[in-house]
Amino acid sequence: MVSPFSVLSIFLFITFIVHVDSVCVQGQVLTQVTKYGTVDTQCILNNIKVLPGSSFKLAYPDCLECRCTAKSMACCGFGYAAGVAAPPPGCVAHNDALPSNSLICYECGCDQDDTTTCNCDTTSDITDNDYCVILEQRYVSTTYVQLSRIPRNSSWVYIEDPYYVLTQESIRYNLTTRQWYLWTSSVVFGCDWDLCNSPSLINSLPNSFKYNINSTWLNSNIYGTGSVTSCHHCDTEVCGDITNPSDFSTCQMVTCNTNVTSCLAYDLWNNVATGEQCYQSQCAPEYLNGANGEIYGGKYRIDLEAVVYLAKDRSKYDIWEMDVYCAVNNCTRPTIFQEVSQQLKLEIGDLSAFPPIRPLPISNPLRCYSCDCFDQPTCPCSSTVVSSLDYTYCVIVRENFGQQAYIYADYLELDATLMYIEEFPYALVEESIDYNEKTGLWFTTTNFVVYGCNWNYCNKPEYIPLLPNSYQMRLPEAWLNSSILGNGQPISNCHQCPEQAHCGTTDFLEENTCPIQSCNTTCLVLDTYEDPAYDYLCYQSFCLPPDTQDYQLDRHKVEIEGIVYASQQNVVHLWEIDIYCRANDCSRAGIFKDLRANLRVEPGTLGALFTETHDPNIPQRRCYDCYCHNQPGCICERTTIMAANQTYCMIMRESYGQDVWTSLGHISQDSTRVHIQDFPYLLVEESILYDEQINRWNTITNFVVYGCNYDLCNHPSLVPSMPTSFQMRLSEDWLNINVKGNGQPVRNCHECPDGPQCGHSDYLDTSHCPIKECNTTCLVFDTFDKPNDDLQCYQSFCAPADSDDFHIDTHRVEIEGLLYLNKKPYTFELWEVDIYCRADDCSRPEIFTELKNNLTYEYGDLSPFEPQTSTSSQSTNNPPTTTSSTNNPPTTASSTNNPPTTSTTPSKASLLSGASSFIALVITIFLMNFH
Ligand SMILES: *[C@@H]1O[C@H](CO)[C@@H](O)[C@H](O)[C@H]1NC(C)=O
Ligand SMILES: *[C@@H]1O[C@H](CO)[C@@H](O)[C@H](O)[C@H]1NC(C)=O
Ligand SMILES: *[C@@H]1O[C@H](CO)[C@@H](O)[C@H](O)[C@H]1NC(C)=O
Ligand SMILES: *[C@@H]1O[C@H](CO)[C@@H](O)[C@H](O)[C@H]1NC(C)=O
Ligand SMILES: *[C@@H]1O[C@H](CO)[C@@H](O)[C@H](O)[C@H]1NC(C)=O
Ligand SMILES: *[C@@H]1O[C@H](CO)[C@@H](O)[C@H](O)[C@H]1NC(C)=O
Repeated sequence: MVSPFSVLSIFLFITFIVHVDSVCVQGQVLTQVTKYGTVDTQCILNNIKVLPGSSFKLAYPDCLECRCTAKSMACCGFGYAAGVAAPPPGCVAHNDALPSNSLICYECGCDQDDTTTCNCDTTSDITDNDYCVILEQRYVSTTYVQLSRIPRNSSWVYIEDPYYVLTQESIRYNLTTRQWYLWTSSVVFGCDWDLCNSPSLINSLPNSFKYNINSTWLNSNIYGTGSVTSCHHCDTEVCGDITNPSDFSTCQMVTCNTNVTSCLAYDLWNNVATGEQCYQSQCAPEYLNGANGEIYGGKYRIDLEAVVYLAKDRSKYDIWEMDVYCAVNNCTRPTIFQEVSQQLKLEIGDLSAFPPIRPLPISNPLRCYSCDCFDQPTCPCSSTVVSSLDYTYCVIVRENFGQQAYIYADYLELDATLMYIEEFPYALVEESIDYNEKTGLWFTTTNFVVYGCNWNYCNKPEYIPLLPNSYQMRLPEAWLNSSILGNGQPISNCHQCPEQAHCGTTDFLEENTCPIQSCNTTCLVLDTYEDPAYDYLCYQSFCLPPDTQDYQLDRHKVEIEGIVYASQQNVVHLWEIDIYCRANDCSRAGIFKDLRANLRVEPGTLGALFTETHDPNIPQRRCYDCYCHNQPGCICERTTIMAANQTYCMIMRESYGQDVWTSLGHISQDSTRVHIQDFPYLLVEESILYDEQINRWNTITNFVVYGCNYDLCNHPSLVPSMPTSFQMRLSEDWLNINVKGNGQPVRNCHECPDGPQCGHSDYLDTSHCPIKECNTTCLVFDTFDKPNDDLQCYQSFCAPADSDDFHIDTHRVEIEGLLYLNKKPYTFELWEVDIYCRADDCSRPEIFTELKNNLTYEYGDLSPFEPQTSTSSQSTNNPPTTTSSTNNPPTTASSTNNPPTTSTTPSKASLLSGASSFIALVITIFLMNFH
């Protein structure tokens, strides 16, 4: 046996001839004609088809990275196959990548006076080799704005870099004021990343670049006395470039018609780089002299079309065209353009909206609403922002400041919360339960509510009114009085461990930590990490400093932060509890257990907030998406979304010798060779190999694929169950008799190397596969195109003799079988059997039926793989069973809360600017506020 990849059957040897020493190979796309006459052209790997547009890697030992397009498959080596000496680190298995997206551009139009219609959600992503534009066209009374896309080569001068501002400007003379002014007739902004032609740039564009010329110069060189009688006149455009200068001899001075008192000369640059330009001159058109001349721009002006490339030096510009309208003797001289260029000054406006470096393309994009409002019950919002689902999600945050509320919608980094968010959507609430010493009453205020979700446009503005009453956490007054307030006098002692939090179970913390010291103010007791399931918390306690003139610290207060997930709306997971207390022994670690026992949760609008748990507009499939190499657990928190009608979720576990690759992700519908009838399923490929040294048959599982079709069903917790999920076995006796024989080369084989013969097993026509002599090994393949219909394809031939490059196992059975788990008893389908045999007459077509009858199945615990019984739309989004606590390890979350003396109180006012909304949230959530 040479490599596990001889598993890939003879077809792969034919399609890509893998030579490890050659760095790149051009593979063919495998085109299969199905029995139904349809042709599918796809790249195949391990019998799993890969759609054109995908790229994938072949694991060690091939270490090829392949890119599959509709026309070709190119595979290049990586790791040692690329000539790198080091062993291939993380040679991962296939990656059925996202289809290549073309650029997304906004598509809308509006008047600049009313840009509301430009704040549109209409986008296009149709054609490749386009880029996005904003076009602002100024007319006398209005400016029209268009957001769209244009082909890369649509400008008359080739755009060097499609991130630019192209302006058409005119420096004009106002006859009334006798002053020069700038008129911008159009601005084109081009850019080439997703949604870069954002409506928010509309107002920045006219101020981006302005061209300017000293008016003294203009007066003497363009206006003069305001009248001229003769101009240069060329019969045709005079063109030239650096090597072939223009010949202006055809351009002679002529006397203009009596109604014309100015000249027009223009200069076009066809190729800025080679200086290729064309000059033309004549008397100005007569209409410029008429009463409406000024409406047409006037007869004293310089029109300019110029481009600034935003990713380059922004003080440089390329002039594409210059038109000079002038009334000075000899002002149409060919050198006028150089003279104007020398006078021209570029004024650079506010370019802060245009990043000097293009933003990186956003992977796994996520679109969120992005707005903020102050003190409004609703917050109309149509602007959106694109971030990446890989590390962000969408939020709506409502923060209360006294009677007022600051609300914003945006995205938030996944790690912005100190605690791990297990799933989306969620509602996070922080409440303060304060004691009013004057009235003697406890009152609860909500400090903030965060709604978090992770699909496009999920942080809908409609949810904003639901936030204030999402849910409430309440503690009984009697408990508050006895456990927090006490007699209201300063406490006499506190547990003291101000430096850092101590983590463990309540009992452990009671025994081991935080000495009791005298205190005559208030105890602050913190619980910064909670896992009630294990009675686990991170605990900290200390005596607060005495009040000063400037500030008074809270004396009786409980601050609770809790999160509710849509999948379990009646459970609040507490994230943090801060207790300011003066009751006896209130600083003990056990107080948190007491508090939990007394905490009452009152659900409010949670049901309405959680009506959607995924994007209802686009049927989406959300799958875990990770690779693991030799990790039995394969911890995976990353999820990706693709269209539900195109993909389902899978876990694929491949073994090559001692190496195990696990991939979780999406797989294209119908990408498997045989149509999948039902979900979930387990697909297993095994090799049964004869070990000549110990005279025994060994069964190896090459790969197991679990496929399922509801959100997050490929949960990583299933990975450890995969190897033992389902196995196929053949008895040694049967293998010895039917496959091995006496171990000598086979004498003859059925021969039909050109193609398989297909039909129902009873009617399989094998006349095209006559028996021929052979003295090596028979290769007999049987694929089941429609396993449930017994439709099978048979092929057999005598293996070529071994050579240096090529070695074929002499006794071997490959079996690929699929188990549908949806109904009991489970349905089993045999997909393919490949036999390498030397037993007499082992290439007979009937051998497959015999094999099938002798095949036994061993099931492991399949319950984790079975479909979920609940049919409600919400539960279909839940990961099956145990949300593995590996995601949420009660590690050493030692939060180092400084003693309050040094703690800064974030100014609430600064939060209202909205500029630092993320920081605001983070600060609000995670800093202790003393106010
Ligand atoms: C010239 O300036 C006057 C006075 O500011 C203004 O009313 C007029 O519209 C200007 N003409 C043009 C063509 O801009
Ligand atoms: C324009 O040029 C004239 C003569 O060269 C000079 O005196 C004047 O200061 C310049 N004006 C400005 C605004 O630079
Ligand atoms: C000049 O304009 C006047 C009035 O618009 C017109 O009658 C006359 O024919 C024009 N002259 C020429 C030479 O075009
Ligand atoms: C026009 O200007 C050019 C360049 O300054 C000069 O060579 C030429 O003699 C001038 N022609 C006339 C008629 O003044
Ligand atoms: C509290 O203790 C501080 C020092 O520990 C002391 O200065 C202060 O007088 C005490 N206050 C009361 C009310 O006992
Ligand atoms: C999947 O659904 C989307 C939207 O519903 C549709 O545009 C697309 O054509 C569908 N694709 C397939 C392969 O059915």
